[in-house]
Amino acid sequence: MDFTNKRGIIFGVANPRSIAWAISKSLSDNGAQLAFTYQNERLKDPVSKAVKDMNPIELVECDALNENQIEEVFQKVSESGPIDFVVHSIAFAQREDLGGNFSETSLDGFRTALEVSAYTLIPIVKHAAPHVNKNGGSIITMTFEASNKVYPGYNIMGTAKAALENSVKQLAYEYGSKNIRVNAVSAGPLPTLAARSIPGFNDMRTIHASKSPLKRNVSHEEVANTSLFLLSDLSSGITGAIIPVDAGYGIMGL
Ligand SMILES: NC(=O)c1ccc[n+]([C@@H]2O[C@H](COP(=O)([O-])OP(=O)(O)OC[C@H]3O[C@@H](n4cnc5c(N)ncnc54)[C@H](O)[C@@H]3O)[C@@H](O)[C@H]2O)c1
Repeated sequence: MDFTNKRGIIFGVANPRSIAWAISKSLSDNGAQLAFTYQNERLKDPVSKAVKDMNPIELVECDALNENQIEEVFQKVSESGPIDFVVHSIAFAQREDLGGNFSETSLDGFRTALEVSAYTLIPIVKHAAPHVNKNGGSIITMTFEASNKVYPGYNIMGTAKAALENSVKQLAYEYGSKNIRVNAVSAGPLPTLAARSIPGFNDMRTIHASKSPLKRNVSHEEVANTSLFLLSDLSSGITGAIIPVDAGYGIMGL
């Protein structure tokens, strides 16, 4: 896939195990020019080190709950040219709202998980749109099958992923006339910083590997490859889709 002369912004690299990092590496290897955001000052150095070899065009602080910062990111990056694609790979839930009884979810925990993991896609798409290349653009987010099935322990993040997937469809509709596509990749379980806080995550990996048609877990690279397809012109007819990269696990009934 050729991303020469294509420019994009990546939200969600924390370290080289982040899904966003794998997508970025693949984009960079294929010629893309990338700008990165980091969530806060504490993450500036680790993110900067993690993406150094990808020659970032910008590295900008952005807490995705701060809409002004989102707007500034797009203004800053688009000063040197239009944007062709955006990767939203952001999620968070309070530790006490993962695991245990779902009915114990606090209002504050519900808000936090939904705001960070679902709402943030909306202002990101909205503020990207004025700066997207006039030939069109592609935006992706990362979701998980717990949006429509029960994964004990994933709890409030399942609710957040359901909201995220619905937002993908509504945004795809709204921005379709501007030729901006919005899609989600639904990845199988991958060992990352965020995944480590989900109780029973290792069991999830074991069960996926034993029950999926491909009899294994997916890799970061496989998730990145499908992401590149969605970010490229090869997927020009696809928007509002939730594409599973899960070794087929989601088709199984038993
Ligand atoms: N790892 C998995 O098994 C898996 C499977 C399916 C989907 N996903 C999704 O992939 C995405 C990336 O997660 P990951 O697994 O790579 O973990 P990760 O911990 O590497 O990435 C999560 C990112 O979210 C960012 N973030 C959290 N709150 C933020 C905020 N307020 N503002 C800006 N950034 C914020 C963090 O800084 C971090 O970079 C998430 O949406 C996650 O739900 C992960």
